[in-house]
Amino acid sequence: SDLTCGIDIGGTKIAGAVVDADGTVVAEGRVESPAADAAAIATTVAELVSDLAAGHPVRAVGVGAAGYVAADRSTVLFAPNIAWRNEPLGADLGGRTGLPVVVENDANAAAWGEFRHGAGRDAEHQLMVTVGTGVGGGVVTGGLLLRGAYGVAAEIGHLCVVPDGLPCGCGNRGCLESYASGSALVRAAQAAPSPAVLAAAGGDPARITGPMVTAAAVAGDAGAVSLLAELGGWLGHGIASLVAVLDPEVVVVGGGVAAAGDLLLAPVREAFDRELTGRGFRPRAAIVPAVLGNRAGMIGAADLARG
Ligand code: BGC
Ligand code: NA
Ligand code: ZN
Repeated sequence: SDLTCGIDIGGTKIAGAVVDADGTVVAEGRVESPAADAAAIATTVAELVSDLAAGHPVRAVGVGAAGYVAADRSTVLFAPNIAWRNEPLGADLGGRTGLPVVVENDANAAAWGEFRHGAGRDAEHQLMVTVGTGVGGGVVTGGLLLRGAYGVAAEIGHLCVVPDGLPCGCGNRGCLESYASGSALVRAAQAAPSPAVLAAAGGDPARITGPMVTAAAVAGDAGAVSLLAELGGWLGHGIASLVAVLDPEVVVVGGGVAAAGDLLLAPVREAFDRELTGRGFRPRAAIVPAVLGNRAGMIGAADLARG
């Protein structure tokens, strides 16, 4: 069998999988992300790889990292939500694991996973938007992953949607991520918690999580439903601008918050349909959920490691 390992390093979780050439996950693991400590992340990832590889020999490792990955596909130049500044992540992991390592932006990796094995399988032009701790983007155009001149294209979470708006982890204000991420959702829920969400958090607003908001919304809690609708409105707004530039066939929405399904996607589509330039006179990209769910990043990273 021809196996590679795919790792997805986010601001909250680190997930890893052994994946075969068809994109099938044959083993997986998941740990908390020590996001504030770059050295601890490397140690944690190396351990996860060695655990996974112990059962299933892999020939290479692909890492999706939630940050600005340089064109060398090894160095993380910067990350808004993780303590990476010019971090030689790929070289470090290569040394620790003894395997070839390719590092890619996490949302690019997820986009590649969906393009190869998921919602974008039949598309040539795909935009992926990931909604988790941050908001990530990945663009496949003409069947190729768009990386830009320096590796850091498609940072859609840092599109400015509100001049002088809410602060963002990147240091700017008014980024899409400040309004449409899982972190933004939690902040909004903490500021005005509905009774159901507050109860789920044991009465302590500081303990509110994104999944609590989603669960409350699924159960019909009006406050939680409207928080997701507001987030979806911002996403649809951002996607309308991105589609104006990229003209994809399909927009895939993934990341943890996408678990809310139509509670998120219906408001996204509504804002998109209302705002897309030329609407009514042009073919319109379909907005669909990620087929691979929260495995898209690891499956894509594992495929990119095949070279
Ligand atoms: C980062 C991206 C990342 C995204 C999703 C953003 O804050 O700038 O590099 O892809 O979060 O994790
Ligand atoms: Na990206
Ligand atoms: Zn930002």
